[in-house]
Amino acid sequence: MNKQEEARHMALATLATPTPAEQLASPLEYILAEHFRQRTLCWTIDRIADDRARDEECIAAVLRFLREEFGPHVIDEEEDLFPLLRRRAEPEDRIDEVLGALSQEHAADKFDANAILEDLDGAKAGKRFTKTFRALLHRFAANERRHLVVENAIVLPLARVRLTVDDLHNLGRRMAARRGIDFRGFSHAV
Ligand SMILES: [Fe+2]
Ligand SMILES: [Fe+2]
Repeated sequence: MNKQEEARHMALATLATPTPAEQLASPLEYILAEHFRQRTLCWTIDRIADDRARDEECIAAVLRFLREEFGPHVIDEEEDLFPLLRRRAEPEDRIDEVLGALSQEHAADKFDANAILEDLDGAKAGKRFTKTFRALLHRFAANERRHLVVENAIVLPLARVRLTVDDLHNLGRRMAARRGIDFRGFSHAV
C-alpha cells in the first residue's frame, strides 16, 4: 500500500468509526474527537474534488457522514454548548462575537453541505464533476477547517475553564439523548 492509499484507508476507517459513546462522560473531549473526524471529512472531500476518477467508496463515506453525523454535532453546539458558554462566560472573555460568527458559519456550511449532498448523490457514475462543483467541495472543506481551528483554539479551552461539573454532566446527557444513547451507565470523568 503506498502512502496515498494508506491515508485513504485510514480516512475511511476514521469516518466509519463513531466516537466511543463512553466519551460522552467527558463531552468536551467527545466534541474534540468529533472535530478530528471532521478534519478527516475535509481531507476526503478535497480528495474527491481532485480525483480524476470517482472514488465511490470515499463518496459513500462523505454522503453518510454529512447525512447522519454532521447535523447532530452542529445542534450539540448551537443548542447546548454555545448557550451554556454564553451563560457562564465572563464579560472579559468576549466570546459573544466569536460564537455569533461561528453560528453564521454553521448556517452557511449547512447550505453548502446540502448542495454537496444533492450533487454528490445525484451525479452519474463515471461522469466527472464540474469545475463549479469541485470549487464548492474545496470551499466547504476550507471553511470547515477554519471553523474547527476557532472551535478548538477558543471555544473548547474556554468551555473547559468556565463550565461547571453540572454543566458538563447535562451537556453529555443531552448529547447522548440526541444520539439515542443511554447515559446512565457511564462514569463521569469530567
Ligand atoms: Fe464543532
Ligand atoms: Fe461548529
